[in-house]
Amino acid sequence: MAWYYRASLTMHVLLLLTVVIIPYANCGYTSIIGFGDSLADTGNEYIYALDHHKGPYHFLFPPNGETYFHHPTGRCCDGRLMIDLIAESMGLPLVRPYLEILNVNETVRNLDEGVNFAVVGATALDTDFLDPMGRYDIFTNFSLRIQVDWFKEMLSPLCNTSSDCRNLLSSSLIVMGPIAGNDYNCPFFAGESLELVKTYVPFVIEAMASAINELIQHGASTLLVPGNAPIGCIPCYLTLYEGSDESEYDPLTGCLTWLNKFSEYHNELLKTKLSQIRSLHPHVNIIYGDLYNAELQLYQSPEHFGFTENTSRACCGGGGTYNFNLSALCGLPGSRACANPAKSINWDGRHTTEAANQWIAKALLNEIYTIPHISTSSVSQQ
Ligand SMILES: *[C@@H]1O[C@H](CO)[C@@H](O)[C@H](O)[C@H]1NC(C)=O
Ligand SMILES: *[C@@H]1O[C@H](CO)[C@@H](O)[C@H](O)[C@H]1NC(C)=O
Ligand SMILES: *[C@@H]1O[C@H](CO)[C@@H](O)[C@H](O)[C@H]1NC(C)=O
Ligand SMILES: *[C@@H]1O[C@H](CO)[C@@H](O)[C@H](O)[C@H]1NC(C)=O
Ligand SMILES: *[C@@H]1O[C@H](CO)[C@@H](O)[C@H](O)[C@H]1NC(C)=O
Repeated sequence: MAWYYRASLTMHVLLLLTVVIIPYANCGYTSIIGFGDSLADTGNEYIYALDHHKGPYHFLFPPNGETYFHHPTGRCCDGRLMIDLIAESMGLPLVRPYLEILNVNETVRNLDEGVNFAVVGATALDTDFLDPMGRYDIFTNFSLRIQVDWFKEMLSPLCNTSSDCRNLLSSSLIVMGPIAGNDYNCPFFAGESLELVKTYVPFVIEAMASAINELIQHGASTLLVPGNAPIGCIPCYLTLYEGSDESEYDPLTGCLTWLNKFSEYHNELLKTKLSQIRSLHPHVNIIYGDLYNAELQLYQSPEHFGFTENTSRACCGGGGTYNFNLSALCGLPGSRACANPAKSINWDGRHTTEAANQWIAKALLNEIYTIPHISTSSVSQQ
């Protein structure tokens, strides 16, 4: 591994003044297994849509992917997502979408390339639980439970006894999210009140806990569980509640305070639940990723991070005060992208840019925003 250290050290020195992800080559994780929604999907919905002639969805068209891949990959981003950047920082390949592995290899034969079960639009709650009346615009049926079922199907040819599975998974980092944003987006965008949406939170946390417990039963030994983002800052919500009373906006960031408080409420409940799971499974490393504060710091001092564009506006969109227009989403006719996405925090009104993802991943990996720290939870400690 010496060459790797040297190479990364040189890179670190060269890029000292720009964004750099410090490699965690010493963590010892040999693969990443991902779950989540569009903040984590590296191509499952893309493959599903192609195979089932669904869409056309805005994120399947340029300029999505322009910054890093130079073509759309199914990521709702101009470039790499947090899970990509975590994989790279650990010297691992970009995590392959499960449906792509199934298309190409028919089955997962090893975990060498990692596997990602995240799907655009996924919810933590099952769709029939979240919305039995069909009022909400739920994009996909691939809820967290279905993603966990995929995981179990994947394991069957690889390991059967729990000790075999534990061995297989002992050096895998499971990235459990981001997930749960859509559980709230769908009702908020259907016009539901804060009071009603708040009553969903304990159920969402239970759904996440049940997925985590099931993964632990099947041998998972390290899980990184990100919380929810400060949704009061993102253009789609700023547009939904445009014209709110001036007192509802944080004067420093321009974010809607009550919506950010709602994210904090979800995160508090999640943290409490994670400590309960930790005490029941002391041999498992359960790391909370404080996505909320990792992202909020970008809105609080954007210039410090190189975000010189208005942080309330999406880089790519179809016009309006916040450059977010549901009738012209990024990639569809009527939308256009800013010249340099690296200067914007938000890409398409709902998702962060690669540049923002770099800072967020860096904050998580540099231990600033994880509890407990990723490196002290490394497999070498077991
Ligand atoms: C898929 O197949 C290729 C070549 O056959 C192999 O190199 C790769 O490791 C396989 N991937 C998985 C996840 O099984
Ligand atoms: C969603 O998935 C569940 C479980 O596979 C299935 O029972 C249900 O019919 C599906 N719903 C839709 C709308 O496809
Ligand atoms: C696990 O069980 C399934 C079904 O019985 C079998 O097909 C598979 O080969 C087994 N896997 C291992 C690793 O033994
Ligand atoms: C939103 O997009 C539609 C379709 O392109 C367009 O007709 C409308 O003017 C746009 N709205 C704003 C506020 O730009
Ligand atoms: C950013 O854009 C929003 C919406 O147009 C506007 O209200 C706000 O004043 C702008 N902020 C700055 C710092 O220009």
